[in-house]
Amino acid sequence: MEKPPCDFTIFGVLGDLSQRNLLPSLYQLEKVALLHPETRIIGVARHDLSQEAFLEEVRHKLQSFISEPLESETVERLLARMHYVLINLDVPEEYIRLLEVVNPQERVFVSYFSVAPSLFGPICTGLAQAGLVTPTTRVVLEKPIGRNLATSQEINDLVATVFSENQVYRIDHYLGKETVMNLLALRFANSIFTTNWDHNTIDHVQITVAEEVAIGSRWGYFDQAGQLRDMVQNHLMQILTLVAMEPPVNLNDDSLRTEKLKVLKALRPITAKNVDKRVVRGQYGPGFIKGKAVPGYLEEQGGHPASITETFVAIRVDIDNWRWAGVPFYLRTGKAMACKRSEVVINYKPLPHNIFTGNCRKLPANKLIIRLQPDEGVEIEMLNKVPGLSDGLHLKRSMLDLSFSEAFGKERIAGAYERLILEVMQGKQALFICRDEVERSWQWIDSIQEAWARTSEPLKPYPAGSWGPVASVALLARDEREWEE
Ligand code: BG6
Repeated sequence: MEKPPCDFTIFGVLGDLSQRNLLPSLYQLEKVALLHPETRIIGVARHDLSQEAFLEEVRHKLQSFISEPLESETVERLLARMHYVLINLDVPEEYIRLLEVVNPQERVFVSYFSVAPSLFGPICTGLAQAGLVTPTTRVVLEKPIGRNLATSQEINDLVATVFSENQVYRIDHYLGKETVMNLLALRFANSIFTTNWDHNTIDHVQITVAEEVAIGSRWGYFDQAGQLRDMVQNHLMQILTLVAMEPPVNLNDDSLRTEKLKVLKALRPITAKNVDKRVVRGQYGPGFIKGKAVPGYLEEQGGHPASITETFVAIRVDIDNWRWAGVPFYLRTGKAMACKRSEVVINYKPLPHNIFTGNCRKLPANKLIIRLQPDEGVEIEMLNKVPGLSDGLHLKRSMLDLSFSEAFGKERIAGAYERLILEVMQGKQALFICRDEVERSWQWIDSIQEAWARTSEPLKPYPAGSWGPVASVALLARDEREWEE
């Protein structure tokens, strides 16, 4: 595997994302020798820390955020690559301090913006002024990129004053998940699916990303965003595009992104007229998750009792193109739900004629269930004859179950950030989102936000630890369908 020497710089190295995801991922890459021996990791933050204190802090965070026992040799090898640079990110003159460590003329220089988007502009200016922008400089942008189309355009414009699009890597960590990637393999490496993947055979598609965790201490951030912006605009839209897109010519950067973009362009906008029938927004109240009492969203630490921010969304999405004409995609996602479960369910059409009427009045249709997390795998629900000599032919629903842990043994599933960090180092953009995708997706999300602003339909409450508001069941029942449970 290609692994070029790289100066990998994390702006906001002491922040939550870096400690939870980036540093542990670098540890895993070190462990399996996927970092070039000369790769250096540079942590940037505004705290006055000595190099020793910084390394101690990293060691401590690795212990806190990696659940398996740490290999001390791997930790030491990783720490030996690390440098700390103190920069006040909004002071452009301070960026020259990076020149003491990095060498963008000779090595790939990656800047990972693990900070609030309001700092993206100042970091770009600082890097440019310090002469740190060369053709091999790459920048990684974390979500949220804006809170609507207008603000995302502002951020993208700012970054574009310094970097060209082929230097910008916009992260959606769902694209780094093994099972999300497997959607490509499932669809385009198996002829039974390539030929059964359109309005001729599919009745509807369900995409569920349920989270068990409640908002807790993240109230300040989350209340400004809501579940539509926090999860649908990025993660669910990305899964949707992978399920719905046309076969890409190959897996190159542009091929994949071009096909995903076409799906986003074909999404039917939601309007004030139909929003109440197409979208359900909910907010969790007090309840129980795994037997433990959980406060409602409004009672969480730092919560405001009058907040109308949604913690649950269910949407009927229509894709206006040839392949998906008349095939709705139902999306649902929420916090504080019954359990953590992400899956795609492809519901096939019922057969045109039933020859088993003696024993089965209505033949249930086949389902393909793609379990994204946890317990990754693929299941097909099908009908079989019950063995035996009894009169007639009795049918029973059974599951063809491919569990990844059984099929691939104890092989550890690499974390999403591990894959994405490697791809940036290698200069591959296919698993990152291009500007057009971000903006198209915001445009569609804005249509919902605008429709919500004009409707008087209140938020629907649901108890923490449930599958969301009753209205979400009604959303499908209106179309004579039901959620996979
Ligand atoms: C993040 C959201 O992007 O994804 C969080 O901001 C959410 O609110 C998280 O909890 C879910 O990611 P995962 O990988 O745990 O499904």
